[in-house]
Amino acid sequence: MPTYTLTTPLYYVNDRAHLGSTYTTLACDAIARFQRLQGQSVCFITGCDEHGLKIQRTAEAAGLLPQAHCDAVSEGYRDLWRRWQISNDRFIRTTDPRHRQLVEAFFARVEASGDVVEGRQQGWYCVACEEFKDPSASDPEPSCAIHLRPLEWRDEVNLFFRLSRYQQAIESLIARPGFVAPPSRRREVENFVAGGLKDFSISRQNLTWGIPVPGHPGHTFYVWFDALLGYLSALLDPSDPIDLDLLASRGWPARVHVIGKDILRFHAVFWPAMLLSAGMEVPGSVFGHGFLTREGQKMGKSLGNVLDPEQLLERCGTDAVRWYLLRDIPFGEDGDFQQQRFTDLVNNDLANTIGNLLNRTSSMARKWFAGCVPPSQEGLSMEHPLAQAAERAREVAIASLEVFDFRRGAEAILQLAIEANGHLNDRAPWKLMKQEENRDSVAADLYAVLETCRLVAVLLTPLLPDLATRILAQLGLEPIPCGASGTAAIPPPWSEPLRWGGLRGGSPLPEPVPVMQRLELESPL
Ligand code: MSP
Repeated sequence: MPTYTLTTPLYYVNDRAHLGSTYTTLACDAIARFQRLQGQSVCFITGCDEHGLKIQRTAEAAGLLPQAHCDAVSEGYRDLWRRWQISNDRFIRTTDPRHRQLVEAFFARVEASGDVVEGRQQGWYCVACEEFKDPSASDPEPSCAIHLRPLEWRDEVNLFFRLSRYQQAIESLIARPGFVAPPSRRREVENFVAGGLKDFSISRQNLTWGIPVPGHPGHTFYVWFDALLGYLSALLDPSDPIDLDLLASRGWPARVHVIGKDILRFHAVFWPAMLLSAGMEVPGSVFGHGFLTREGQKMGKSLGNVLDPEQLLERCGTDAVRWYLLRDIPFGEDGDFQQQRFTDLVNNDLANTIGNLLNRTSSMARKWFAGCVPPSQEGLSMEHPLAQAAERAREVAIASLEVFDFRRGAEAILQLAIEANGHLNDRAPWKLMKQEENRDSVAADLYAVLETCRLVAVLLTPLLPDLATRILAQLGLEPIPCGASGTAAIPPPWSEPLRWGGLRGGSPLPEPVPVMQRLELESPL
């Protein structure tokens, strides 16, 4: 079975991680865990993009050598992802000496294909975007629409990649269903390509913080040319030689590159053309998610409303943030982070609907059934209404996660917990238990609700691995492994746990403790 390789963008180390990079990384983590649970061999790649003028200037401003600056910031990323419990299999840094060798090998192929030519690059450059811009000709002081900072004029001889030769190839590639996803993003790329692909410069002169271009003294690679190749370097094992032909057996092509919508063009147009030029396979899909705003406003340092992932993690925990971002924002569309809605959803869905359900059911079971899961043939039956509800939830959740529809998947799981709450309230075992002859039917009710809680936890595993683990522990069960592995797990690790009836009647239930703390945020995040 081919490896399911997926990537986050390689984050610039000009600054620490922000909510945008955290969002992409959390979503990729859910995909990676889900695919592992489905029995796929997964290679989940993230890392840092460390070259270019922007980073050189940031380091200078901090009075550091670029390498020292990159070491510190990339270590910060690595550490942050560890604390968010991100299950990446690889972490690539583009300042890794092996990456440099790979860039050289790749460039040699592109040059041999006749796709590198010298040309004069004139234009307005945004250092923060690391991209040439097309400001209106009448503007005497052009500035970047995203960064609101003045553009810099460039006029130099650069090496160009002959993208224009790939017009047809790229047109047919983006016509492939699912290559650019979601469909709304595809139109954007189609429009860009329909405008006619122009050669783009892949080297810079007078830039020291970059990889020197072999055979072209004075040139260093344009940061994007080098950065995209990080996806390939990441796949090679440390003991592998730098051999592009090995990549096919190491997980290339990637199944999906998950990115923000602002860097779609690089991934869906420039990157596949570069790969075709080097005689390599193109990725299966490029998924461009939307942008997060905060209380309706763009997040920015100048506005002072940036959400810091470190603080968010410390104050709210990984489950709360994962739940809100994945359950509330349709993946692919823009989303707005609203503190009130965030706390409401976390408290209603996780603390009340799921957490309290488990807590009260387990307390009743312990009280009336000698601290154990009540044994019940009736509860075990596939005909039980909750068994049927669980079956439906499982189908919807799996089908949704397969296509990155986290929202629908999360809602299906939540709906299952809502049905279990409804069942418990309708049956009112606390009343039934007053008559001894109802003992069997109370056992059936409690068994079925506890079993539903178990299945809720199993289904939540890819989305909220930490909460899932705590729920399972409350049922006396081990978590289902879905962390970084790199190896195929056959049969799928969750195929058995997903079956109704996994909870054993008579097994001891630990002392109930709340699995999810309510969020009580007194000040803005
Ligand atoms: N270094 C390049 C990527 C190279 S990939 C070979 C880069 N890095 S970045 O750190 O600037 O951006 C990383 C990601 O964060 C991008 O996917 C970008 O879309 C995303 N986001 C930045 N701000 C965002 C929001 N406000 N909301 C959601 N995602 C956002 O680009």
